[in-house]
Order: sequence, then structure tokens, then C-alpha cells
Amino acid sequence: MAPQDRTLVFHRRIVVTAPLRCQESGQSEADAAVGRSLQLDYSKVRAYWQRTKPSLLGPYMMEGFGFPASAGRFRFRGEQDAVEEAVQDLRSSISVLDFGSGVGVWTEYFAQRFANVVSVEASPTLYAALKERCSRYPNVATFGSDVLSFEPKGRFGLVFLGGLLMYLNERDVRVVLSRLVPCLEPDAVILCRESTIRHGAKTLQGDYQVAYRSVETYQSIFSAAGFDVVSVEANTAYINVQMSCELIKKWKALVPERFRCLPVVGRLAYWGLRLGYPWNTRLIPWLLARLGREFPSLTNHFFVLRPSVQVAADRRDTSSHGTQLVEEMFENAR
Ligand SMILES: C[S@@+](CC[C@H](N)C(=O)[O-])C[C@H]1O[C@@H](n2cnc3c(N)ncnc32)[C@H](O)[C@@H]1O
Repeated sequence: MAPQDRTLVFHRRIVVTAPLRCQESGQSEADAAVGRSLQLDYSKVRAYWQRTKPSLLGPYMMEGFGFPASAGRFRFRGEQDAVEEAVQDLRSSISVLDFGSGVGVWTEYFAQRFANVVSVEASPTLYAALKERCSRYPNVATFGSDVLSFEPKGRFGLVFLGGLLMYLNERDVRVVLSRLVPCLEPDAVILCRESTIRHGAKTLQGDYQVAYRSVETYQSIFSAAGFDVVSVEANTAYINVQMSCELIKKWKALVPERFRCLPVVGRLAYWGLRLGYPWNTRLIPWLLARLGREFPSLTNHFFVLRPSVQVAADRRDTSSHGTQLVEEMFENAR
């Protein structure tokens, strides 16, 4: 592991002050075996999310490990600290766009803090749960739609992309980001939370299709789409739970199904690592890196983006219609 890679895990926050240049995706031979074309099959992505259980654990990819429901709440609370830091300077009067909102835990969180939230989710199963969760918030408009065909109207002070970009091909990541530019308030931020790998990019093929990219790969994509990366922060709550997930995956690979006792072993793995939080999210990967092991294999980061100066200057001037257009979206959602 190169020293620069360790910074991703151990330095909670990396602040980027200069726009980054594009780099090539460093696809290794091992990556190629996982996903030769690096293209996602969207019909499989859709099918996966359609059959996902609409619990807090489901969209967090934490079902089937024997973890308690509190594991989802722990991760959500841990992530709130990072989100809070990213949004603390935003006015409460702004509108928020939550793309790929799952069951809507973040939509609900933003609804309690900001004037309006427009929430878009493609999976009918998760959308139903989102709608139900947010029905008591008159300042939330929900859309059961694919973000690739959804045209946001109005002006948003915050766009939240919580684990969405990893289900989009690189070209579509750029399309979605570029389409957001005219809809951003002058001081708006885009907050992304994505699963990350240490090097390059790879896609998992099969029934669960996903594109994992390194922090550097995301930075290149954001830069190419005309965004400056203001900060990158390791998602320690995710990393903590991910370590338990990877242990349980190893357990599942070693032990026949009838002897797995997941409700017990899953809780032991979860609570064992949870008690050492947050120190073990740095210590364990650091110790294993000394032994030449990358653990956990998957990490997760928050990225705060702003349109680059040039892109911001080219932004279409729709400011006078911004509020009106968001209101129109609320009419359409009814
Ligand atoms: C990892 S989950 C995250 C859910 C939520 N943002 C959160 O943080 O809890 C990813 C979500 O993105 C949704 N999604 C994936 N591709 C999408 C697309 N093209 N359009 C809309 N939603 C999509 C999935 O259905 C799923 O709900």
C-alpha cells in the first residue's frame, strides 16, 4: 500500500484547494476480471433495488449479516456529523434536492432543517417507503423516477447524492452533475457519499451491479464535469460497519449455512467492532496495512463539490424564477 493511500483511511479529512487534473482509471487485471467493460447494466441495478427490503438496513446494504436494527441507526447518526459539517453554513430557507433517496431517512432529516426538499427515487419498493415516511412533511415533494430522466426545476442550495453515483456509469455521472449546474444557487454545494476503493475503478457484474471508484477517480470525474472538490472526508461510521460486514462475509464463505448462527455471530461482530469506534476505524486498517493487507476492502467518503468558477460564470440565469419553479415541482408531485 503506497503512503498516499493510507491518508484516505487515516486522515479523516482531506481538503482540496486546487482543481485536480484528469487521471486515467487504473483498472488492474484483477479489476478487469470483476468487470471487464466497466459498464453497469441498469436493468440489473433497477432489479436489485426493486427487491431490496425497505428498512433502514436495506439501502445501507446491511441486510443479511445478522446485525441489529440499531446498526443502521448508528451509521445514520455517525454520518449526520459529517453531513452537519458540510451543511452548517447553508441558509435554512434553501431547497434541497435528494437524488436516489432510498427510504428517505435523509429526505426526512433535510425536511426538518430546510425549507423544501425534492426527493427522487427509482425503486418502486423504496419509493413507497419514502412516500409514507415523508407524508407528514408538507415541504417534501417525492418523485418515483430515474434520476437520468428527471429534470429538476428551480434553484437548490444543497444537492445530496447519498450512494447514488456508484450505480451510474461514468458518462452518466457527468451527465447528472452537468444537468444540476443551472439548478444551483450561487453558494450551493453538492454533497456526495460514495463507497470507495483504494485504486482505480471496478464494476461488479452479476445480480448486484455497482461501480466502485477510488477517491482520485471520483475527483477526476468531478473535475471533468466542471466541479471543484472542496473537501473529502472518510465516512468512519460506514468503515466501522463495513469491517463487520467483511468479517461476516468471510464467515459465510467458511461455514456451511446451517452452522452460521448469523443472529449471534453478526451481533458479536457488530458490537465487537462498534465498541472500539471510532479509534478502530483507523487502527485496524493501519495495523493490517503493516502486514500488507487491505482491510476493509471497501471504504466510503463524503465529497463536497461546488461548480468551478468558469462553470458558475456560465450558469444560465434563472435566479428570478428559482422559487417559483420549485413550487411548480411541488404541484407536479401532488
Ligand atoms: C445506497 S442506496 C442510498 C439511499 C439513500 N440515499 C441513503 O443514503 O440512505 C442507493 C439508492 O439509489 C437509488 N438509485 C440507484 N440508481 C438510481 C437511478 N438511476 N435513479 C434513481 N434512483 C436510483 C437506489 O434505488 C437506492 O435507493
